[in-house]
Amino acid sequence: MRIGILGSGGVAQTLGSALITLGHEVRLGARDASNERVRAWAEREAEPAGGGTFVDVAAFADQVALNCTAGAHSLEALEGCREALQGKILVDVANPLDFSQGMPPLLTVTNTDSLGERIQRGFPDTRVVKALNTVNHEVMVDPGRIPGAHTLFLCGDDAEAKARVRGWLGEWFGWPDTAFVDLGGIRAARATEAYLLLWVHLMQVTGTSDVSVRVVHP
Ligand SMILES: NC(=O)c1ccc[n+]([C@@H]2O[C@H](COP(=O)([O-])OP(=O)(O)OC[C@H]3O[C@@H](n4cnc5c(N)ncnc54)[C@H](OP(=O)(O)O)[C@@H]3O)[C@@H](O)[C@H]2O)c1
Repeated sequence: MRIGILGSGGVAQTLGSALITLGHEVRLGARDASNERVRAWAEREAEPAGGGTFVDVAAFADQVALNCTAGAHSLEALEGCREALQGKILVDVANPLDFSQGMPPLLTVTNTDSLGERIQRGFPDTRVVKALNTVNHEVMVDPGRIPGAHTLFLCGDDAEAKARVRGWLGEWFGWPDTAFVDLGGIRAARATEAYLLLWVHLMQVTGTSDVSVRVVHP
């Protein structure tokens, strides 16, 4: 597959490297096509890794793009990608965190709206699936870093898109199908984004970012 990753940070690089290992063609995107982090990553990975602007990598994707931009700025980053993302699935990995007041972070959008919903509203011809945002980037590509069963939440308005993302995450990174808790429509992004407030505390008290939760019920 040709996979476009919007973002140049640690999340984009970890996902990109894992997907390259699996034989996919991957492009990482940034505001500037000559972004230094992307250039260094592409050099390390060699072919078929590459980079470009956010629009370039959105257009490069044949079926799916991943939003790995800073959530507080994702809408700015995605601006201009509407046509390039048309008809494609966008996995929204971003969290709208505001670290300007220090730790713990605040959310730039919450309660009555979410980043996932804002993206879906702004991109009606793109199927947005919120997923992977509730675990650390190393866990995203290697769920076994955390011993035992743990949960990966996902949500989105398009059932077929969610099923495909669920399948890909299993096939690419080994997420067992039993790990997924489908919370329904994209409105549930309000909950999975707000979960980050708890996740930050869990990370602080456990002393590791390899931390997650498991949903249990009768
Ligand atoms: N770290 C984790 O393990 C983890 C886990 C779950 C979810 N997430 C989420 O994943 C996302 C990526 O995290 P990260 O730590 O890899 O990277 P990050 O530092 O949060 O974001 C970097 C990306 O955001 C873009 N960006 C920043 N300000 C921008 C602006 N004003 N306009 C347009 N684009 C802007 C950057 O563009 P340039 O490339 O042009 O600089 C870069 O591509 C975040 O939303 C984060 O909350 C992270």
